[in-house]
Amino acid sequence: MATSISCTSSSFLIMRYFISLFVLLGLNLWSLDRGFALAEGTSKRHLLHPKNTHIVNLHSLLPANTCSPSTRGNKRKATLEVVHKHGPCSHLPQNKGTTMNHTQILEQDQARVNSINSRTSKKLNGVEDLSQSEATSLPAQLASSQGAGNYIVRVGLGTPTKQLSLEFDTGSYFTWTQCQPCAVSCYPQNDTIFDPASSTSYANVSCNNAKCVELGASTKYNSCLRGTCLYRMLYGDEYHNSYTIGLLAKDKLTLTSNDVFDGFLFGCGEENVRFIGPSAGLLGLSRNNFSIIEQTAQKYGRFFSYCLPPTASSTGYLSFGSPGRASSAAVRYTRLTTLSLSSSYYGLDVVGINVNGQKLSIPPSVFSSPGTIIDSGTVISRLGSTAYSALRDAFKAAMKSYPAAAPDELLDTCYDLSGYSTVTYPKIAFVFGGGVTLDLDETGIVYFLNGLKQVCLAFAGYDDDKHIAIFGNTQQKNMEVLYDVAGGRVGFAPGGC
Ligand SMILES: *[C@@H]1O[C@H](CO)[C@@H](O)[C@H](O)[C@H]1NC(C)=O
Ligand SMILES: *[C@@H]1O[C@H](CO)[C@@H](O)[C@H](O)[C@H]1NC(C)=O
Ligand SMILES: *[C@@H]1O[C@H](CO)[C@@H](O)[C@H](O)[C@H]1NC(C)=O
Ligand SMILES: *[C@@H]1O[C@H](CO)[C@@H](O)[C@H](O)[C@H]1NC(C)=O
Repeated sequence: MATSISCTSSSFLIMRYFISLFVLLGLNLWSLDRGFALAEGTSKRHLLHPKNTHIVNLHSLLPANTCSPSTRGNKRKATLEVVHKHGPCSHLPQNKGTTMNHTQILEQDQARVNSINSRTSKKLNGVEDLSQSEATSLPAQLASSQGAGNYIVRVGLGTPTKQLSLEFDTGSYFTWTQCQPCAVSCYPQNDTIFDPASSTSYANVSCNNAKCVELGASTKYNSCLRGTCLYRMLYGDEYHNSYTIGLLAKDKLTLTSNDVFDGFLFGCGEENVRFIGPSAGLLGLSRNNFSIIEQTAQKYGRFFSYCLPPTASSTGYLSFGSPGRASSAAVRYTRLTTLSLSSSYYGLDVVGINVNGQKLSIPPSVFSSPGTIIDSGTVISRLGSTAYSALRDAFKAAMKSYPAAAPDELLDTCYDLSGYSTVTYPKIAFVFGGGVTLDLDETGIVYFLNGLKQVCLAFAGYDDDKHIAIFGNTQQKNMEVLYDVAGGRVGFAPGGC
């Protein structure tokens, strides 16, 4: 099969274009865990008005070796447990060569952000070379990198059902998993690689099927193998471009025993390049006909919600359908917007940011043009330079009693907190149109780059105001986030996991 694919599809030869950047082996998992472990504290020390600050016990940052699952999601139907890829709740064998240090995580995060922006800037040199496409034809629906900070859910595929861990992604729409016989290449994954030959419900999609034509139009890739439809998804940027190519396929998707979908369209990846694993692929939730949200719309009415765990040693959930009364009473809704140049993203109507209870002076147009999206796969939120400078200056002013630490390329506002047992930092809130104010969880404000020695403001700024602002997954931690896609609104509630 390997040979026949290579002969039939020239794109299967693109492996020659390797940019060898990601060889990620034997890295320390537990220093990483601290970056995700900021728990509640009780100290009395405060700098500013206590109502506007978080007072956090730094001792609670010591890495947890065991998983403390949340039970909050259990009340809902159609719910999957969400775990952080690098933490005890993922039940991954340690030292499997798939963990990353912070430098690598933030590099990959930047690649994803570059990829998101390339859709609007129309520049993506590396991937253009890679795809050997005509100079101007960018994949219109270029998905984003399977990022380092992603969260994992387990779903069942095929008959009999095979359990697969997939990274769930609100920033891309296409679900895929690595498939046997891995005709060109597979990366190491934790689960056994899905074998279509051992699923009685598996079917290929033919090239003249309307879905093949639709996907081809959306990805600017039309390729066939003996009448069977091939797909190609490109991720990342010119430095970290990963991609998957394989068969467009249909099989039974099992979320829970009561939530089973026949004929779910997904990618059976035979050439999966420059992914790190250990997940088996990706679950796409953004707005497109191929998204799981659209494919399950009859049952769930295009409604889903999730909570990203506050630490890597706790769990969250991903839930399909309206949670009804299981939802928090405190949920506030704001409108979902659509970015004109990339309509599959979930856009947010951000109008301002508060620090320490005070609204920063930022013109709302900084957020609305080219727009702000919410993305589960970007780790660090990105802001235009005007908004970021205002946020950073206000944060710095509130933190002036703490010793500064060296900045990182991406995170430029860092403190050395190794001499402290508690830290007090200002609350940060996002303000949305319609008067909705969302206080970030205390775990969503700082990033532990190097234990307590380098604790940084978990936001980054662009060089200008022309890029897409991104509400990333650090800022979403421990919040219930509800997507009422049909109703055109997104809701938030605190303390969701
Ligand atoms: C890894 O595989 C084990 C055994 O199948 C499973 O229990 C665990 O949930 C998997 N973890 C991930 C993150 O895939
Ligand atoms: C992270 O890993 C890369 C690649 O192995 C290495 O070059 C770099 O020095 C590491 N960074 C830190 C801070 O450990
Ligand atoms: C799907 O297509 C591939 C490539 O042509 C082929 O090898 C495989 O046998 C097909 N599977 C089924 C179930 O038709
Ligand atoms: C999405 O699916 C609907 C219903 O099958 C179809 O009418 C529509 O054209 C599809 N969208 C695209 C972009 O092909």
